[in-house]
Amino acid sequence: MYSSRIVGAGHYVPPKVVTNKDLEKIMDTSDEWIRERSGIEERRFVDIAEDTTAGMGVKAAKIALERAGLTPDDIDFIVFATLSPDYFFPGPGVTVQHELGCKRNIGALDVRNQCSGFIYALSTADQFIKTGMYKTILVIGSETHSNGLDLSTRGRAVSVLFGDGAGAVVLQRSEEQGKGILSTHLHSQGEFADVLCVRAPGNVSKDANGNLIKTKYYPNMEEDAFNTTPQMDGQLVFKNAIIRFTEVINEALEANNLSTNDLDMFVPHQANLRITQFVQKKMQLPDEKVYSNIQRYGNTTAATIPIILSELWEQGRIKENDLFVLAAFGSGFTWASALIRW
Ligand SMILES: CC(C)(COP(=O)(O)OP(=O)(O)OC[C@H]1O[C@@H](n2cnc3c(N)ncnc32)[C@H](O)[C@@H]1OP(=O)(O)O)[C@@H](O)C(=O)NCCC(=O)NCCS
Repeated sequence: MYSSRIVGAGHYVPPKVVTNKDLEKIMDTSDEWIRERSGIEERRFVDIAEDTTAGMGVKAAKIALERAGLTPDDIDFIVFATLSPDYFFPGPGVTVQHELGCKRNIGALDVRNQCSGFIYALSTADQFIKTGMYKTILVIGSETHSNGLDLSTRGRAVSVLFGDGAGAVVLQRSEEQGKGILSTHLHSQGEFADVLCVRAPGNVSKDANGNLIKTKYYPNMEEDAFNTTPQMDGQLVFKNAIIRFTEVINEALEANNLSTNDLDMFVPHQANLRITQFVQKKMQLPDEKVYSNIQRYGNTTAATIPIILSELWEQGRIKENDLFVLAAFGSGFTWASALIRW
């Protein structure tokens, strides 16, 4: 069996910075509340005339390819993770195939596992490479949250947490064993699907007379079911996140007979600085082994982890033989980890 290695990482965030103070002007919130509860200071929002979910993915991918010393023609397959596609369907993978200028009609797969989306996408790409089906795969996470948030006071418990951006990695076949993606671990618990979700469009519809069609999932559906903005029970998400993060990191370490002492870097999904700090304390990891950028970007969902990998790449903080653990938790619930030996 082959192994797969990340040979390039890139990211793109839109230039428009939206600070907590900016949000104070459009909803009843405060810089202090947002910082204290989440650690977020600012986030990026797209200019809708300029950027799209697929388009930001393309920008991130170009940087990742350049850093890998490759061109779009070297890519055999695309895996794209997002919860905010430009079209309800098709997913953005195909747009990337076109906009990136891949001359071959390569396959493109879309993954919708929210905050765990990038690790699910990476794991999928890893399986294709390990079994020899593809040699070089572009894995992208990109989100345009700002168009879908309720930026009034009604939506403040959710909308202050999210931002836009994209990250990408190039995953390539390697014959060297014990390097690259050592293992990935994917989980879900669908009983919590409606704890953090957007109901519409999904399975929400009206009949020809304009009456709401009641479905199994929405027996008490009201007009509000057509709300296209995210709904969340934040405290329940928080409580589950801190348990699952620790669990799935330990699962990855145990599967490889390694311990937290062996780790050089913990790359957590950025949902809340307090979640990261809780997990850091539980794992007894020093500050220099934990990366946080939620202060600058908020939660960029599927884009978060590849953005961090790209920032670490830029900062020269990825060294040969380093051991990284990536971990995420989010809507679904879904959670996942990946252990990487560089
Ligand atoms: C969302 C989160 C920051 C809220 O923090 P919290 O301490 O649980 O706060 P609560 O939801 O209990 O709200 C406390 C109060 O602040 C208010 N509030 C909510 N959002 C607010 C905002 N943006 N600004 C000001 N006040 C706000 C609430 O209305 C509530 O007021 P009340 O006590 O008068 O009813 C926190 O639960 C969290 O981070 N959860 C995990 C979220 C997450 O990870 N989501 C992504 C999945 S990966």
